[in-house]
Amino acid sequence: MINSKTKSALRVARLGIERQVATLDLKLIKLFALNGFFASLYYSFINPAFYREHLSVLRGRLRYARSLHEIKHSSALLRRNTHRLEKGLIMQPRRALFASAYIGETVDCFQDCVHSNTVDASELKWASDVLVEYFSVVSDVDRKVNRAKLKFEKTKLKPTLVNSQNGESKPYSHHRLPEPPMNYDGLLTLFKRRRSVRWYQNRPVARTLIDQAVAAASLAPSACNRQPYRFVFFDEAEEVQEVASFAMGTAGFNHQLPCLFALVGDLSCYPKERDRHVIYIDASLASMQLMLALETLGLSSCPINWPDIESRERKIAKRLQLDVHERVVMLIATGYALADGGVPFSQKKSTHLLLNVS
Ligand SMILES: Cc1cc2nc3c(=O)[nH]c(=O)nc-3n(C[C@H](O)[C@H](O)[C@H](O)COP(=O)(O)O)c2cc1C
Repeated sequence: MINSKTKSALRVARLGIERQVATLDLKLIKLFALNGFFASLYYSFINPAFYREHLSVLRGRLRYARSLHEIKHSSALLRRNTHRLEKGLIMQPRRALFASAYIGETVDCFQDCVHSNTVDASELKWASDVLVEYFSVVSDVDRKVNRAKLKFEKTKLKPTLVNSQNGESKPYSHHRLPEPPMNYDGLLTLFKRRRSVRWYQNRPVARTLIDQAVAAASLAPSACNRQPYRFVFFDEAEEVQEVASFAMGTAGFNHQLPCLFALVGDLSCYPKERDRHVIYIDASLASMQLMLALETLGLSSCPINWPDIESRERKIAKRLQLDVHERVVMLIATGYALADGGVPFSQKKSTHLLLNVS
């Protein structure tokens, strides 16, 4: 049995060692921060903090390459190329010939997606409508374009998709966009109403509200419209508490959170490292829309930081059954706020600090 005196002596010793390690680390950082090569040495041989990220990015690239042949519900390549075609279609002035470098790849991918019978119908309809529009306007003097056109015409979409009631999924004029029902002041009130809420009523949340909030989140912008994320939702008390406790920032209040989203980014949407940060950007933009939409539905929310700590990553990856190329971006708690639950004031930075006009 270790008595309390020994325990506190051990604690003091541990703190002393931790301090010495931190001092040594700072000395090493000063040396290795000299340039990129030294920084890589530091992160390869001294500090393994980026090890999982390296692995996830590489596995993502590998999975991207495989996804071109093993198509599931969505194709990152089809989404990106369809997006590029739409940009070409709205170009002012529009060029007579464009996209010839990748139209063959796009139609091949479209054909594979149609034949897979697994890709989401709305994605296929979008690609199909944009391709129809592209081939109707592009100059047919180009051999690559002509070959792709013939192939596209032979690829049959299900008649239900072709005759869908939802209109055509192709570029349109800006004046057709709906007018927002609120002005700046109304929007500001919504922003002021959204605060990070940590204390909730013990009241169930209807799944239809969650669907509505995610539908609003899906309208957020994303790089090349790839939407490389998904929301994993929990509303069973034990599960919510378990997953919320994997994060560090929920200590003291995770036991009463009614619902929780885990936002998962998918690195298999990219063939290159240069886009490795996009999962965090796109998922965060969608999260903001999710939280604002929740607010309009009478629900409150609290974003929760996901720390890149190996033991915690292992726990959540197991619980959510994540692949190595999938990374948790953040958690978001939601539910009905406790009317007299406290909300921190959280002073925001002044506009002049945030805005640099050069
Ligand atoms: C990425 C991110 C991570 C956050 N992590 C936590 C967290 O772990 N625990 C917590 O209580 N709040 C967390 N918050 C909430 C912030 O503390 C809060 O947004 C900030 O203090 C401003 O307050 P407001 O959201 O009410 O405007 C997080 C917010 C963001 C955007």
